[in-house]
Amino acid sequence: MVAFFAAVMDTVTTYTGLSPAAFFTILALMCVVYKTVCSMFVDPEPPEDLKNKLISSSAAASAATAANFSNQTVIPETVQLGEVTEHELRAYDGSDPNKPLLMAIKGQIYDVSRSRMFYGPGGPYAMFAGRDASRALALMSFDPQDLTGNIEGLSDSELEVLQDWEYKFMEKYVKVGQIVSEQTSKPTKNGDKVPENQNHDGA
Ligand code: HEM
Repeated sequence: MVAFFAAVMDTVTTYTGLSPAAFFTILALMCVVYKTVCSMFVDPEPPEDLKNKLISSSAAASAATAANFSNQTVIPETVQLGEVTEHELRAYDGSDPNKPLLMAIKGQIYDVSRSRMFYGPGGPYAMFAGRDASRALALMSFDPQDLTGNIEGLSDSELEVLQDWEYKFMEKYVKVGQIVSEQTSKPTKNGDKVPENQNHDGA
């Protein structure tokens, strides 16, 4: 053991030209400097969401995480809307955060509130919110003129594209109602019909 120790000291002196005492003092100082510099780049406290993840096994932590999430993203409860006109559907375009975000395909209305990042104000597909977007989806068009449920004159392949969209929506979202044409809609309080400027063909 003593021989091994002496051999290590000899090797240190041979390779570094330093006395063993000087070598180990410098090594210790380098460790201290390394530790000090590293600690300058580490957050003293983990961020709040990471802390929640670390202790997420406890029920209290899960509740805290859920509360934290619901503070940031309030998804209104899904409510069955029943029959509405295309015009009435416009009120559900996401401009009122207390109302669900709705969108229709082939006259069937879906609650797309969970995809606010797509359809909410400022989202890439915000123009579809509160609309029957059948024609736009069938044609893969962002033209405002195609924001209608009127699918007259579409080709077979365009109708197939629309069908694929419908399947996607049926699978992903809850259906909350359907669009009725102006004539079959219920009158408003003062007996007038809600004005309508686009006809939905109900296909
Ligand atoms: C450059 C062309 C386009 C690109 C790169 C693109 C990209 C995307 C991506 C990445 C998503 C998210 C998919 C997911 O996570 O489920 C998406 C969703 C969507 N896209 Fe596009 N898109 C394009 C064109 C279009 C067009 C022309 C339309 C219709 C007119 C359209 C309608 C939609 C809709 C409705 C959704 C949301 C579907 C849902 O609710 O899950 N996109 N798109």
